[in-house]
Amino acid sequence: MNKVFELNHPLIQHKLTLIRDKNTGAKEFRELIKEVSMLMAYEVTRELPLEDVEVETPICVMKGKAIAGRKLAIVPILRAGLGMVDGFLSLLPAAKVGHVGLYRDPETLNPVEYYCKLPSDVPERDLLVLDPMLATGGSARAAIRFIKNRGARNIKLISIISCPEGIAAVHSEHPDVDIFVAAIDEKLNDHAYIVPGLGDAGDRLFGTK
Ligand code: URA
Repeated sequence: MNKVFELNHPLIQHKLTLIRDKNTGAKEFRELIKEVSMLMAYEVTRELPLEDVEVETPICVMKGKAIAGRKLAIVPILRAGLGMVDGFLSLLPAAKVGHVGLYRDPETLNPVEYYCKLPSDVPERDLLVLDPMLATGGSARAAIRFIKNRGARNIKLISIISCPEGIAAVHSEHPDVDIFVAAIDEKLNDHAYIVPGLGDAGDRLFGTK
């Protein structure tokens, strides 16, 4: 319950510094987000169960290992989560991909779901929810609520940069969800940006501003 894993592999930390640099352009930013996501996917899947399988090498038959158990789905939160999909799929090519889109109601300020398409067998899958920035935690919290409402049970949240406020917000509603991050930054500023952060991940990924 209430677990946060800070993934501090040297390659992740090195690439994260490049991602944070305001002089990193959109092409390199996208490539780095993909690479960090791939490295995070490697760490996040460390505990996947294995089973023995028989394999025939050119020399003889042996018992090898294969991933066993429940299947995976990755669920990017639109739109910045899209930047993490290729990195995850490069290590988990058989994973299904669902999508969740939310907007903030200008009057109530509550997150409203405008799009949610998940694999039909979602209750049987382990879900990896992707959002590169865990800031207020409002979107992640709501996205996880929406996918739980569709039967998802075994959920992990993967964010590249987080802050204490976002982690607390997600865990207050979803203590069962483990959170994997590459960094826990200092705080949120008055505009709900993570400090020091990297700016707006969606804008930097897609060249909008
Ligand atoms: N979303 C971002 O892209 N960046 C932040 O710092 C906070 C939320």
